[in-house]
Amino acid sequence: MTAIAVLGSTNMDLVACVARAPARGETVTGRELRTVPGGKGANQAVAAARAGGDVVMIGAVGTDEYGSRLRMNLEHAGVDTDLLHTAAGPSGTAHIVVDDEGTNAIVVIPGANGTVTGLGPGEHAAIAAADLLLLQLELPLSAVLEGARSARARGVRTILTPSPAQPLPAGLLDCVDLLVPNEHEAAALSGCEDPHAAAQVLLRRVPQVVVTLGREGCLYAARGGEQVLFPAPEVTAVDTTGAGDTFVGTLAVALGEGRSVPEALAWASSAAALCVQKPGASTSMPYRSEIDAA
Ligand code: RIB
Repeated sequence: MTAIAVLGSTNMDLVACVARAPARGETVTGRELRTVPGGKGANQAVAAARAGGDVVMIGAVGTDEYGSRLRMNLEHAGVDTDLLHTAAGPSGTAHIVVDDEGTNAIVVIPGANGTVTGLGPGEHAAIAAADLLLLQLELPLSAVLEGARSARARGVRTILTPSPAQPLPAGLLDCVDLLVPNEHEAAALSGCEDPHAAAQVLLRRVPQVVVTLGREGCLYAARGGEQVLFPAPEVTAVDTTGAGDTFVGTLAVALGEGRSVPEALAWASSAAALCVQKPGASTSMPYRSEIDAA
């Protein structure tokens, strides 16, 4: 079983379902409000656990009602929450507008996630015991950097999802083995709009890059190798929230099991395609048997 440590955010997603997202300054009437456990870190943890990983979640929830729901959701997926701290105050929330095409726009309020500014001995030990560490950018960057350095010092492979896109602290990419941006994040980090050119630039900093391209699939690039485009299965998306997290969590399990990169990317793409066909983040992540069947 692949041992995975996830150092990341846990949010309650407050999802407004609308026919069309409002333009700036506009008001539209929505159809429904859903509250769904999410957060990029927790989503990756749930996806990895459902795909068959042995997962520990490092982060924090608040003392509000959302905090206990978020913890229970992770535990229900089989994720170890011993290092998911409870911080006084509200949990993280994500305010999401999902339109009829399944696309979304998200505002995240960090809440308890913002209290995770550094790691203790328990967190370092959990990282040391893992095969892979999964990082995103919804925790304070001081903790992300400390986690990445901890993994590098102990020979643990690190996958970074550089989302939400923002300037990275010096030294972070030096500790990353695989960078998985979407095309917007790849452009923001590299200064190149074209994903192929962006991947080439990013390879100067990390040994491997996967640029996720939504329904177009993903682009894999490794130092010294050709770039390869892996198509995504053709499906009708109802909600793309959490698809990138599903992709990364599942990919980590496959890589930890020693599968080849093409095989791992195909498996992760199948998982993401299953995810977009259902509403919500953690609610739409497939189980291993479903990914195998797909
Ligand atoms: O990647 C999707 C996630 O981003 C949502 O679940 C939301 O919580 C935001 O963090």
